[in-house]
Amino acid sequence: MAIRTVLKMGDPRLLEPSRPVECFDTQELHTLIADMQDTMRALDGAGLAAPQIAVGLQVVIFGVDHNPRYPDAEIVPLTVLINPVLTAIGEEMEEGWEGCLSVPGMRGLVPRHRRLHYRGFDQYGKAIDRTVSDFHARVVQHECDHLAGILYPMRIPDMRNFGFTAELFPGQDLQDN
Ligand code: NI
Repeated sequence: MAIRTVLKMGDPRLLEPSRPVECFDTQELHTLIADMQDTMRALDGAGLAAPQIAVGLQVVIFGVDHNPRYPDAEIVPLTVLINPVLTAIGEEMEEGWEGCLSVPGMRGLVPRHRRLHYRGFDQYGKAIDRTVSDFHARVVQHECDHLAGILYPMRIPDMRNFGFTAELFPGQDLQDN
């Protein structure tokens, strides 16, 4: 297990689509996930996608217990999600502020589907099938965007709502990322 370097926006590897995982419950996959969990924890992130540590596989992890970056956020269970398929439920969109470990020190206002069905597998190949909304739905959409080479600034409709965390939220002592 190790804390890995997180690629930052501008690195072309963040723009590449990821490949599906073909073999589950392998030492290689367990090591990847342990490294991702160590890295996310060390940086106090809400989620991390494998391409952010330069591994081009469809693997994301996410989970929010209590995170000082999202002080009002609901709890999202710690989840390993592999080869995800997302299906929006309904047309309703909701705007919310997002940050990303690959875009440190910044926040942007991003519209996301409010309700979402997602399925995929955990690291043992066990199926995951959930219907979620609000912050949980936002986190899943953000992380799975990484697997398509999409970073949240690409989804900000009004770039006036993109900036440095310390300027957008002065005095709130939100962590960098
Ligand atoms: Ni991100």
